[in-house]
Parts: sequence; structure tokens; C-alpha cells
Amino acid sequence: MNARAVLATAPEIRANPLREESVTLKAADPCTFVVFGASGDLTHRKLIPALFRLSKQKLLHPQTAIVGFARREWTNEQFREEMKHAVESAGASPSEWERFAGALFYQSGVFEDHAAFRALGQLLSKVEEERGVPGNRIFHFATPPSEYATLVRNIGAAGLARRALRDDHAVPWSRVIIEKPFGRDLQSARELNALVHTVFAERQVYRIDHYLGKETVQNILVMRFSNGIFEPIWNRQYVDHVQITVAETIGVEERAGYYEQAGAMRDIVQNHLLQLLALVSMEPPAAFDDKAVRDEKVKVMRALRRIAGEDLSMNAVRGQYTRGFIEGTPVPGYREEPGVAADSRTDTYVALKLWVDNWRWEGIPFYVRTGKRLPKQSTEIAIQFRAAPHQLFSRDALAGLEPNALVLRIQPDEGISLRFGAKVPVQGIRIRAVNMDFDYGASFMVDAPDAYETLILDALRGDATLFTRHDEVDQQWAFVDPIIKGWASSDSAEGPALYEAGTWGPTEADALIERDGRKWRKA
Ligand code: BG6
Repeated sequence: MNARAVLATAPEIRANPLREESVTLKAADPCTFVVFGASGDLTHRKLIPALFRLSKQKLLHPQTAIVGFARREWTNEQFREEMKHAVESAGASPSEWERFAGALFYQSGVFEDHAAFRALGQLLSKVEEERGVPGNRIFHFATPPSEYATLVRNIGAAGLARRALRDDHAVPWSRVIIEKPFGRDLQSARELNALVHTVFAERQVYRIDHYLGKETVQNILVMRFSNGIFEPIWNRQYVDHVQITVAETIGVEERAGYYEQAGAMRDIVQNHLLQLLALVSMEPPAAFDDKAVRDEKVKVMRALRRIAGEDLSMNAVRGQYTRGFIEGTPVPGYREEPGVAADSRTDTYVALKLWVDNWRWEGIPFYVRTGKRLPKQSTEIAIQFRAAPHQLFSRDALAGLEPNALVLRIQPDEGISLRFGAKVPVQGIRIRAVNMDFDYGASFMVDAPDAYETLILDALRGDATLFTRHDEVDQQWAFVDPIIKGWASSDSAEGPALYEAGTWGPTEADALIERDGRKWRKA
């Protein structure tokens, strides 16, 4: 895990945060970073800018090479020219760009072509020799998931990777970074895992969930496990319920081809949302390392009660947006979006009531929701506490009181606030809910690193704490699968509940929480 999240904000550190950080970070070994899908959107938008920023901060070893592989017939020069556009937003000075561009190389080829992989192997050897890289390699799959199996087979067949026998850090090491979605159900995820394991040992596999790279998400662990005051109240005795919201204003954008097959359940719940749930509900790990942290996350995923059969309608709601307004601008309905079937039943919204069946959380519901085209972009976790056991004050005095809540704002307006009742400064007792606020921007005065920057650096350093282990993926699908299957079997009768773009989801989702005498927070 990136040590940046735990830095203190003493003024001298604030004055020069990067210098302090580089002291705390173990330097990454030189390696060759191979990007499959180098002409694609992810490479442009995320990977190259992240690698460039790492290079700019001198966190990328100067001998490290970046080799793009894609179908386009580009030369090294053309690849560099294309990537120059990709780093413009990261503010490259001419000398920084020159240094970075010199590390970029390109091999064109199709993923099915063995000869192209052999050519890639030759290029890697040549580049490694020229730059003095000791054979360490990272393969990043920035391609559609349908290509993953072919890539693994051909990397294996061309002998490009070296299987780690005991230690992933022994030089020369090989690692693979795989983007989500990892499989589309439990069975396909298991098949893909089995195939990946024919070439890479599990300790060489880095499954990305970019949420885990977000500073505020990492801070969930820091907040819980580096402070004494939260842990004693983080359980069924003090907590009434937990709400997790991942709300987006964007629609399906240009991604209908993918999203029609995924829906909100596979796109957000199976990964990002369950990760947030795991971090907020897991037991304290025995150590802060990849094994201990991921062991605890897996345990909590196993404790997640499965929703199936008749529980489905009471505990799970799916929705789909119709046309409406976002910030005053008219937007089309999901079924009117380009590439979406006119009778699509894909979910763009999901709300669930969940139970973590273990000692800590027995009887405490977790209400989670995610949706596209909601009124506001907001990702947050709210721990809502029980009311005071006895009230001294009159009903009138208490009218403005709300339940105590600790709200972890993941994005935007990153921060944490504690909501509690305070006396209104007038004669007599009147109580109103107020917030005690921690705001990331104001407290740290540095721009948080992008999630990809953090995760790529961790992979370069061989730290898998913030990556998803195979048994975690397995448990995530084991939870999500029965819900998707249940919905599919009731498909002919009822599709997703419709909600107007710019509203907080279908009324059925309100009913899901209001049945319990609770309400969704105004995120
Ligand atoms: C991606 C999903 O994993 O996460 C997208 O595929 C979603 O549909 C995105 O919009 C949200 O990420 P972020 O970082 O913008 O919250």
C-alpha cells in the first residue's frame, strides 16, 4: 500500500510533500512495462498519464521501459507522438517529455498471432539489453476482457513470463495486471483464474479495482485502524445501520457494447461497491500486508448473506433510467442511447439490503445503492449510529435532531464528517444537527495521486495489498451470481423498475429501506 495515505500533515511535510514521500517509498525495480491494448482508451486516459507522472516524480526507475502492443501499425516514433497527446494534461515540460518518450517502444500485432508474440519477445530482450533492465516484466491487460485468455496463452507459449516459484520479488520477476471485469460470473471467473495460474503464480497476479487506489478509499483503513476512538463503536452495539452510495450523473456514454452485457450489478456492485463494504466491515488485520488485509476481506465476503429465491424481491431492486434532466439539461433514456436495445432490461441502478453474518455485525443491515443518471455524483459511506438510549429533552426541542452519522465522503468533496445534535444558540433548548468536518483539500493542500498512479506504483514495487486476490473475486461473484440469476429468471414478468434520469432511482428502492423505518441519506 502507498505510504502517502498515512503521512502526517505537519507544516514542514506540507511544504514539500513529494520529498517526504520518496523517503518513505521503497524504490521500484527497473522493469519493462508491457501494455496490451496500447492504442486504446484506457492507455491514453489512465496508464500513460500515470506512468508519466511517476516518471516525473522520479518514482519510475530511469531504466524502466514501456512497450506498447496493439494492432495499429505504428513505429516507435508514431507511438511516442500518440502518447504525447496522452500526457499533455499531466503538464509535461519539453525535457520531461523527452526523457519519458525515450523509454517508449512499440510492437504491432494481433493478439491471436504467435509470430507477433515472438517478435514482442525479441523486442523485449533488445530493449532490456539496451537499457540494462534485468528481465523484470509487467504485462498490463488494457484490452477488452474477451482478449484476456488469448493474451495469457500467448504470453505463456512465447515464454515471455517467468513463473515465480517462491518469491515474487526474486529478480527477474514477471507480473500481470488485469483490469476488471474479471469474468462475468463465478464459473467464468474461476476458468479465467485457472488459465492465468497456468502461466503466473497467484502472487504474480495483480487484479485491478481502481477504487482501491483512491486515496479516500485507502483512508478507510487508516481511519479505522490507526485511531483509537472509532473501533470500539464500530459494531452492532453502537451502529444502527450502514449506507453505501455510489451515485453517478453520467449515463452509459459510448460504452453500450460493454454495459448492455454488464449492467450496474456487474459494473459497480461486484467490484467497487463490495470493496467499499469489505473495507468498512472487515476485522482488523493482524498486519498491514497483502496477505493479512486480503484474508480479512475474504472472510467478510464469505459472511455476506446470499440473496436468492424469495428474499430477492424484498432485498434487491434494479432500475433503469428513462429520459429526464441532469443539471437542467435534457438527457435520453437508457433505451434511447446509441447501441442499446430498444427493449433492453439491463440494470443501470441497483439497491440492496445486505447482512454481514458475523459476530460484529449480527442484525445490522447494510443498505447499498448505485446508479447512473442520478441527480448528483457522490460516493460515500455513512455509518449511522443508534439514538441515545434515553432522551432528556422535550419532543419540541428534539425536532431538529437527526441520527448521529459518520460519513466518509469518497468523492467528490473528499473528507469525513460527523453529524451530531447541538444546541441552537437561543434562549431555551432547541437542538439541530450539525457537522464536524475534515476536508482533504483544506487539510493537506496537495493533489491526491490518481488511483492508477498509486496502483501501478504498488505493482512495480510488488505490493499486492490493494489488488483483488483470486478468492476475493470468487466470493464477490458467489454473492452477485444468485441475484443476477434470480433477476434473469423473472425477466419475462418484470424487468428493471424505471426511474427518470435526474432522480434518486425507482420508488421501489425507497420502499426497500422505508419498510425498515429508515430513509436513504440525501447524498
Ligand atoms: C468503472 C465503471 O469501473 O467505474 C464505470 O466501469 C464507472 O461505469 C466508473 O463510471 C466510476 O469510476 P469513478 O472513478 O469515476 O468513480
